[in-house]
Amino acid sequence: MIDFKNVCFRYENEDTIKNISFHIDKGDFVAVLGSNGAGKTTISKLFNGILKPTSGDVTVNGMNTKTTRTSALAKHVGFLFQNPDRQICKNTIREEIMFSLECIKAEKKYAENQCSKILKEFGFDGSRDPYTMSRGERQKIALASIIVTEPDVLILDEPTTGLDYAECMQIMRIVSEMNRKGTTVIMVTHDMELVLDFAKKVLVMNDGQMLILDEMRSVMKNREVLQTARLLPPQIADLTMRFDGFEKIYTHDEMLLKLKERTGQRV
Ligand SMILES: Nc1ncnc2c1ncn2[C@@H]1O[C@H](COP(=O)(O)OP(=O)(O)OP(=O)(O)O)[C@@H](O)[C@H]1O
Ligand SMILES: [Mg+2]
Repeated sequence: MIDFKNVCFRYENEDTIKNISFHIDKGDFVAVLGSNGAGKTTISKLFNGILKPTSGDVTVNGMNTKTTRTSALAKHVGFLFQNPDRQICKNTIREEIMFSLECIKAEKKYAENQCSKILKEFGFDGSRDPYTMSRGERQKIALASIIVTEPDVLILDEPTTGLDYAECMQIMRIVSEMNRKGTTVIMVTHDMELVLDFAKKVLVMNDGQMLILDEMRSVMKNREVLQTARLLPPQIADLTMRFDGFEKIYTHDEMLLKLKERTGQRV
């Protein structure tokens, strides 16, 4: 579904993305991790042609981002900016959502149906002004205006930063439901607990290079990779790395079960 082949990208003199190659299958859920400035936002913009590789090729659904118009790619790849205010540009939620559908040249009747459906799903009053709403609400408006176009691939750049727990879970429930229905999700995040709960695979970036793309559980206990990328493992994974016999434990629930089994006690 998505192929990066020897991809390099430079803003100025030096390569920011350094010769990256990988493949992502349809329906996957990949978390992109790395410390500040590692190149996560840059790589995520290469997925949908906002940025084009300086050398190498990015192919999505068989379309090379260098030779495909960005508007054609936008039909297949939805992109949620790190900051929703970089995305929202209309005075009402309804206009914002309709604008997304216009960008992919959706037919009027279909657009109106889709818009009503998504407003209902998110519980939005379409006549409200996004800028009178909270940051979490604006994040949801930005997300709604992307998923209304039903993209095959969803790129999310830190979708939950600055949100409270309830808002974060609401966004993640919507995203994981889309993934369950077959949408491929690429999510940049700093939140290791979210990675543990939702990601199937993890791609780790460090200084513009890809350190690894592998199954989530295997990366979460790969000390060498995490240390090189200056990342802390999630708490339970970190704790269980220090005990023999706890190698397969990653979550609180798994930890409780294991302790119960070991001690013969109710926990
Ligand atoms: N428009 C730009 N022009 C020049 N350099 C840039 C531009 N955008 C990013 N960079 C540089 O490219 C490198 C990677 O930046 P990028 O924003 O991709 O990192 P990131 O991993 O998303 O970081 P963060 O966790 O802070 O969001 C950084 O050194 C950054 O300063
Ligand atoms: Mg970033």
